[in-house]
Amino acid sequence: IKHLFGIADLDREQIEYLVNLGDSFIEINRRPLKKAPTLRGKTIINLFFENSTRTRTSFELAGKRLSADVINISASTSATKKGETLLDTGQTLAAMQPHVLVIRHSLAGTCEFLADYLPNTSLVNAGDGAHEHPTQILTDLLTLKQAWGNPQGKVITMVGDIAHSRVARSHLLAAKKLGYSMRIVAPKTLLPSQIERYGCEVYHDFDAALPGSDAVYMLRVQTERLTDNCAFPSIREYHEAYGLNAKRLRAAGPDCIVMHPGPMNRGVEIATDVADSAKSHILEQVEHGVAIRMAVLAALCGGQAEEKKKTGSKRE
Ligand code: CP
Repeated sequence: IKHLFGIADLDREQIEYLVNLGDSFIEINRRPLKKAPTLRGKTIINLFFENSTRTRTSFELAGKRLSADVINISASTSATKKGETLLDTGQTLAAMQPHVLVIRHSLAGTCEFLADYLPNTSLVNAGDGAHEHPTQILTDLLTLKQAWGNPQGKVITMVGDIAHSRVARSHLLAAKKLGYSMRIVAPKTLLPSQIERYGCEVYHDFDAALPGSDAVYMLRVQTERLTDNCAFPSIREYHEAYGLNAKRLRAAGPDCIVMHPGPMNRGVEIATDVADSAKSHILEQVEHGVAIRMAVLAALCGGQAEEKKKTGSKRE
């Protein structure tokens, strides 16, 4: 693959290939002193216009674990603060000949837009507004592979701010391709229009959605993207209606696992004892994020090598 824009562009085989490749990188990530030479001579630039702890750090570690040179740029310290456009910033960085540009931006479609102007650079979407977050979903699928083997036929109950969630949208796309079911739980104010077109079940009552869930996947309310503050009356009432507590987790069944992409708001969408319980796979998701980003970077750079062979390009 040349770029990774979203789950929408991947077929089932490509998703499974990246998840399996990520699986094969877990051990290398656990032994950072033994770097793999896979990306020696490659340059990765992480360009983040929105805040990030997990995604930015894991792309940096992933590149370094595979021997790449990695540069991090955050919008708050870049020339965009002096009025430079997104396109000028992209073209400027591409002129420095990175192999991969990893971009997080608040606007949907940022990578697709830049790809038309940066023909020699692979672009990775590290989250674009409420649109897609493909590496988070690959990370989750690796976590589910470790927990279940195959997600086919399983039920994931996703709860929270679906309207603003790129994670929700990417999971809904992946569920159709891989054959797992999604139950979506949210107040009407936090649901996107036409959610049913994704083929999911929609609930407003969290307790009604719990029985038979194989995983409960909690989402943060993205207050920074809310256009008004009336999505729910108060944090206390939101937690009562849509927060995951120990009683609710018991109602889901003994084998149900807990997931969250982070960052968590403890006491809002998830109670502390649940977040820290043995059923929580939240820190495994973080660990697998590094392995998956290693897989994505390796797949993109391998793809370039194949392309070079075909086109005779001099670029290494
Ligand atoms: N899950 C996720 O995207 O977290 P960050 O915002 O910390 O990268």
